[in-house]
Amino acid sequence: MKPDVMVLYPTRPKAWAQLEAAYTLHRYDEAEDKAAFLAAHGPKCQGVVTNGHAKLSRQMVEAMPQLKVVACSSAGYEDIDVDALTDHGVKLTNTSVALCDDVADTAIMLMLAARRGLIDAHAYTVAGDWGRKGMYPLQHTLKGARLGIVGMGTIGQAIAARCSGMGMQIAYYGRREKPEIAYPYVADLTALAAESDVIVLAVAGGDATRGLMDEAALNALGPYGVLVNIARGSVVDEPAMIRALKDGRLGRAGLDVFLNEPNPDPELTALPNVTLYPHHASGTEETRDAMAQLVVDNLAAFYADQPLLTAVN
Ligand code: DGY
Repeated sequence: MKPDVMVLYPTRPKAWAQLEAAYTLHRYDEAEDKAAFLAAHGPKCQGVVTNGHAKLSRQMVEAMPQLKVVACSSAGYEDIDVDALTDHGVKLTNTSVALCDDVADTAIMLMLAARRGLIDAHAYTVAGDWGRKGMYPLQHTLKGARLGIVGMGTIGQAIAARCSGMGMQIAYYGRREKPEIAYPYVADLTALAAESDVIVLAVAGGDATRGLMDEAALNALGPYGVLVNIARGSVVDEPAMIRALKDGRLGRAGLDVFLNEPNPDPELTALPNVTLYPHHASGTEETRDAMAQLVVDNLAAFYADQPLLTAVN
């Protein structure tokens, strides 16, 4: 008999076929009466397939008394009550290792685009201004620029590796210094922003980091500074960032994430000094397949009584 697994969010087709072959899948994501569905099927399930944007509350965890493993196909998991999982002895897995390269590439793409004025320069070229008005204004190089990485986890480290190759000077801020990281640690985010040309936010979302990049840190980054956010919109005080970008206290921003997704604040999207991407840093066929495969492999490890590949708690 196949084990029962609750699906809060489905996976990509190749991984899905493997899940269907190995498990009886209960489609909570498609259920109309979700409470009744969970009451009917929750008690049979030891596994959950989900992603970090699907709500998994304490009440839902408690409706699945046999639950042992939650395989999440994203790096972030702020909508999952991890404390409730831990209290009930349930393991959570995520997919940072599968997506860190694409997310780091996106950080570099936004950093370069913002620092070199790509969006505006593209419009300048298309409009014929190059021929009419002459050379596009000089921009600023990244080589030798000072980069502050906020959050030196798997993704932060992938960003650091790329930026080190580009000749940037790197320092980082996080909850604590990591002795295994060779770059200098700065214990105060505003101080790091004051000594950086570019700040990249790469921390987890959720309450612990809400509004972390606040008005003081934005001011400290300053009129020539670039803010790149590939973490979560909640990590920056977005209204303060919009004000700072508007009145020139902050130079430019390259953003993959927003407070109000998928409809970012029109005041933000109308600004000339932003480069925007629609929360799509891991949005490639290859990486989404790798993330889905990691969900399959974590579940397989659990049912084979093997160590989980990417446990979070
Ligand atoms: C993640 O994996 O957390 C990305 O932001 C996509 O949700």
